[in-house]
Amino acid sequence: MTAAAPEPKANMGQPVPRYDAHSKVTGRATYASDMPLANPAYAFLVTSAIAKGRVDGFDLAEARAVRGVIDIVTHENAPKLKESKLFSNGGYAGTTIQPLKSPDIAHDGQIIAVVIAESYEAAREAANRVKVNYTVAAPSATFDSPGTTTAAAKGQNSQFKEDPKVGDFAKAFAAAEIQLTAAYDTPTQHHNPMELFTTSCAWIGDDLVIYEPSQYVHGLKNGVAEQLGIDADKVRVVNPYVGGGFGSRGSMTPRTAIIAGIARRLNRPIKLVATRDQGFTITTYRAETRHEIKLGASRDGKLVALRHEGAEVSSRPDAYCVGGTKTTTRLYACPNVDSLVSIVRADRNTPGFMRSPPEVPYLFALESAMDELAVKLDMDPVELRRINDTTNEPIGGKPYTSRSLMACFDEAAKAFGWSQRSSQPKSMAEGDWLIGYGCAATCYPTQMGPAAARVRLQRDGRTRVEIAGHEIGTGAYTVIAQTAAERLGVPLEKVAVFIGDSDLPPAPVAGGSNSTASTCSAVMMVCDQIRQRLFKAVMPDSLTDKAKETVGISQAPTTQAAKSNRPLDIEKAFDALGVSVVEEYGEWKPEGAPLDSFKAMHSGHVRLVGGHQMQDKIAYAFGAEFVEVRVNRFTHEIRCPRLVGAFAAGRIMNPRTARSQLMGGLIWGMSSALLEATEIDERNARYVNDNLADYLVPVNADVPGVEVILLSEQDDHINPAGAKGLGELANVGTNAAICNALYHATGQRIRKLPVRLENIE
Ligand code: MOS
Repeated sequence: MTAAAPEPKANMGQPVPRYDAHSKVTGRATYASDMPLANPAYAFLVTSAIAKGRVDGFDLAEARAVRGVIDIVTHENAPKLKESKLFSNGGYAGTTIQPLKSPDIAHDGQIIAVVIAESYEAAREAANRVKVNYTVAAPSATFDSPGTTTAAAKGQNSQFKEDPKVGDFAKAFAAAEIQLTAAYDTPTQHHNPMELFTTSCAWIGDDLVIYEPSQYVHGLKNGVAEQLGIDADKVRVVNPYVGGGFGSRGSMTPRTAIIAGIARRLNRPIKLVATRDQGFTITTYRAETRHEIKLGASRDGKLVALRHEGAEVSSRPDAYCVGGTKTTTRLYACPNVDSLVSIVRADRNTPGFMRSPPEVPYLFALESAMDELAVKLDMDPVELRRINDTTNEPIGGKPYTSRSLMACFDEAAKAFGWSQRSSQPKSMAEGDWLIGYGCAATCYPTQMGPAAARVRLQRDGRTRVEIAGHEIGTGAYTVIAQTAAERLGVPLEKVAVFIGDSDLPPAPVAGGSNSTASTCSAVMMVCDQIRQRLFKAVMPDSLTDKAKETVGISQAPTTQAAKSNRPLDIEKAFDALGVSVVEEYGEWKPEGAPLDSFKAMHSGHVRLVGGHQMQDKIAYAFGAEFVEVRVNRFTHEIRCPRLVGAFAAGRIMNPRTARSQLMGGLIWGMSSALLEATEIDERNARYVNDNLADYLVPVNADVPGVEVILLSEQDDHINPAGAKGLGELANVGTNAAICNALYHATGQRIRKLPVRLENIE
C-alpha cells in the first residue's frame, strides 16, 4: 500500500481507487457546461457597479449594435418569476434578493441585465457596451459601517433555534479562580470552486432540462419549478460531475430560473458561464464574524463558566447565520454556559454555507481561547482538553454516541512529536526561523437525511445503483459502489453507479457532510431487499415465513458485517425465481426524521437530522490537529511545514478517499488561517480581490507536510452505514492550531484572521 492508500484498520472498508478517477484526469468527465446542446444561444451577465440604489435607465444602443446579439433582458422585459424562500427557512434559495424584478439594487454585483447572443464572445462584447444610469445611495458594507442594524439571530431565522444556556454563567464566571475574556475575528471568504457557476437550459416542449453544477439536484429542480410556476415533474437537473462545491451549490441562485425563463421565451437552449468575479456576488459566501469568549476555570483547569457571543453579517432581507454556538457550548464539560448570536444587516449579497459553516469560525474562537487559558494555567493544552473531556454534552446532558477526542489527541501528539515541545514561547528556533507548535480540537456533527435508491442485480452479478447523490469531488461514486458490492457480495467492478440526476431516486443536499451516511444507508437497505427476495426463492418451503423474512439479512449495523454474512448463490436464486433481473426500490430515513420525510424528499425541502438535534443522544465526529509554524525573525514570513491530524468518524468506508477528504480539509484549514480573505472596499461595499490571482488559495508549496491518521471507531447508534461525515471535519480547528503555534513561536497572540506577515510585530 502506498501512503495514499492507508491499510484499513478495524471497521474500515477497502482503500480502492476512485471509480471516476480515470475519467476525471483524462478530461472525459462531462461537467455541466460540457453537455452538448442543439444550436445554443449564449448568455452573459451584466452586474451592478453600485451596492445600493436603483437603475434609472439603460442605454443599450451600442450593445444591440454588436453583431450576433439576440436579446438584452433587463427588469423592464424579464420573464416574471415567483418568489422562493430562503434555504435555511425551508425553501431552496440562497437569497431572496430577486434580480431583474425591479430597478432596485440590493448589493454590488447584482445581476441587472442578461445579454443573449449567437456566441459567447458577442454576448460578452455587448455586455461590456451596456450603459447604465444609476441613482446611488451610500451602502453599509460590514461591521461598524453606518446604517447597519443588529439583532439577535433567534426568532429571525428558523434554522437558528436556540442560544444554548445552562446553569448560572454570570455568577460562576465572577467567582472563577481564573478568568479569560478575549475577542476574535474571522474574515469574509468565498468558495472559489474550480468549476465556474454555469447554467445550461434546454426546453423540449414543456419539459426543461438544466445542466448545472449542483450539490442538490432535487432542491434545484423543485426550486426552479416553483419560480417558473410549473410542475416539478417537468424539470430535470443533470450533473454527473461537479467541479467543487464547498457549500456554494447547495442552494439555488437566482440565475437558474432567469436563464430557464429566457430560454423558454426564445425557444432555444441557452448556455451561461458566469465569470470568476461574478461568482463572488451572484452566489453565496462565508460572511465575516466576530466573537467574544469568556472562560472561567478553577486553578486545576476545570472549566466552571463558558460564554460565547458571536455576530455575523448578512444581507438586508435575509437573516442568514451559521450560529456555531450549538457546537461550542457542547464540546467540553462545563456546568455554567451562556451564548448569544446576533445578525448584522448590511448592503451585501446574502451569505451562505461554506466549508464547515458553523464550526470553522466558531471553533477558531473557542480553540484559541482554550489555548490562552492553558497559558494562563501554565498547563499543557492537550491536558487542558483532557481535564474537560466529557461523555455527555453539558447543555441537555445527552450522551455522545461515541467520542474519540482524546484518543485523537494522543495519536496525533505521538505522530507529531508533541513531547519535543518546550512550552515557553520563543524557546524553539532554527537559524533565522522561530519555531512554534500548536494544537486544537476539531469536531463536526454527524448528519443524515432521507434518501431513496434503486438497485438492479443481474444473474451474472452485474449491478446498477441509482441514487440522486452528488459527486462533488468527494468519492461518492466509489463509496456507493463499495457499499452495494459488499452488501450483495458481487465484485466491485461489476457495480455501476448513477448519480447527479434528479430523475434518479432522491437524495439530500450534498452538504453538512451527510452524503455518505445517507446514500450508503439507503443503498444498503435496498440491497438487503434484493438479498431477501433471492434468499426466499431458495429457502425450503418448510421454513416459516418469519424465518424467511430475516434469513440472509445482516442485523449488524455496518457493511463490514455483510461480508461475513451468509453467502448467497445468486445464480441458483435467479434460477429458482425464473428471472434474469431483480430490481428493488426503497426509501430510507434516519432515526428522528419527520413522518412526512419521504413526501418532502420528492417534492419539498428535506431537513438534515443528527448532531445535537437527536432525541436522547448527540452525534459528532472528532479529531485533533497539530501544526508546526516557522516565522522568520527578520522578514516575519510565515510558513507551515507540518500539519498532522488524527480523526475518528465511525466506519471509514474507504480509507483512501477519506484520507484525501481529510487532507484537503487540513489544507483548507491552514488556508483559513493564513491565506483566504475577501477584501471589502467599505466605501462601496464591494469585493476587491474577486479573482484567483488576488484571492489567495493554497498550492502544494504551502503545505509540504500533511499527515492524516485514521482512528478505528465503531458507532452503532448513528445510521446503518455506521459512518460519520468527515468531509468538513478536518478544516475545523486548524486556524486555531496555527494561531496557537504562532503564539508559541513569537509570544504574540493573534486573534484576527487571516494572519499575514504584517500582523507579526
Ligand atoms: Mo457544505 S458548506 O455543508 O456544502
